[in-house]
Amino acid sequence: MPLVTKMKTLHELFLTKLMALYDIEDQLVKALPKMVAQATNRDLKEAFASHLEETKMQIERLEECFSLLKEKPKKIKVEAIRGLVKDAQWVIKHVQKGPALDANLIAAAQYVEHYEIAGYGTAAAWADSMEHMEVADLLTATLHEEQAADEKLSALAESKINDEVPMHDSEE
Ligand SMILES: [Fe+2]
Repeated sequence: MPLVTKMKTLHELFLTKLMALYDIEDQLVKALPKMVAQATNRDLKEAFASHLEETKMQIERLEECFSLLKEKPKKIKVEAIRGLVKDAQWVIKHVQKGPALDANLIAAAQYVEHYEIAGYGTAAAWADSMEHMEVADLLTATLHEEQAADEKLSALAESKINDEVPMHDSEE
């Protein structure tokens, strides 16, 4: 007999996914103020600050999902998000503040956005399969926010910030 009971239902997978997302958002609420503080470009600073506020709302949405499912909000520790946050801290330590750091903060944040888009995409699809329609709508609302945040970062990088980073050391 196995010592660990392995999950086998979509409901179990789904609840685990919600607990993971709950942990992920909590880690991001802690990490985003550092991104706000380190960004130089005013629009980027604002983008990170407004995503911090959105992230707080996303936590509330997850709490509402748990409540609709009559479950207590719980987190499970997700190593991947801690790795992504550590990578962003590495960037902050190794890249000169200004356009170069801004460009690399965008890159680090977009790793996180894509990761969250994958997570919410799965969670919304599973909620949909189980016909938890209200929960699916909440998860889809967050999914759209993550997608919009990602697009905003791309627009900032491509319209301005990437061009401000010197291409080579020897530029005169
Ligand atoms: Fe988020």
